[in-house]
Amino acid sequence: MFAGECTFMLGAAGLGQIPDTDLPEIAFAGRSNVGKSSLVNALTGRKAVARTSHTPGRTQQVNFFDLGAKLIIADLPGYGFAKAPKDQVAKWTRLVNAYLKGRQQLRRVLVLIDARHGIKDVDRGIMKMLDGAAVSYQVVLTKTDKITAGQLEQLMAEIRIELAGHVAAHPIIRCTSSAKKIGIEDLRAELARLVNC
Ligand code: GTP
Ligand code: MG
Repeated sequence: MFAGECTFMLGAAGLGQIPDTDLPEIAFAGRSNVGKSSLVNALTGRKAVARTSHTPGRTQQVNFFDLGAKLIIADLPGYGFAKAPKDQVAKWTRLVNAYLKGRQQLRRVLVLIDARHGIKDVDRGIMKMLDGAAVSYQVVLTKTDKITAGQLEQLMAEIRIELAGHVAAHPIIRCTSSAKKIGIEDLRAELARLVNC
């Protein structure tokens, strides 16, 4: 189990800075402000590993974390942040897409979806791109503390139907709240199994 053995490696602003390792890797993708950095922090059991913020667009590079020299986590910049300058958004999009398509050791991409908002077109775009590149991904709902159990059930049913049309999507949807520590243990155990640590 990898909690508590997490160190920040580096933040890559371009493809040339991505670390040259062959450890298995798991990437956290999702719209700006969905809770990627918060989930990385909750899973690794450390308070300030990944910087979180109320301001969307906080994470502006791909941040790599080494978990006990067994697994690497990549915290991606958020996509679909309309308020950032256009050329900045284009730069992040290019970096994220090139990273996601070309990273050999990537075992799974967690596509984070805010439970209040559901899957949006930008998410569909990323999912289609991953389907096309045959990169395995899994939907992880975030901020489930903000909706009722009934709303969550309805959302899960809708997403299940949608996922059936995506070839590279993992069938299990994970429900999490980093704030209330819901679903964190289960997700951590699943990731640990995935990379045998
Ligand atoms: P970018 O790096 O800007 O793309 O954002 P991010 O996806 O890394 O989001 P981040 O983790 O910085 O969280 C954004 C905001 O959502 C912060 O104010 C967090 O405190 C809040 N947040 C994250 N997870 C949860 C959660 O599970 N529940 C609640 N209620 N708030 C959350
Ligand atoms: Mg972030």
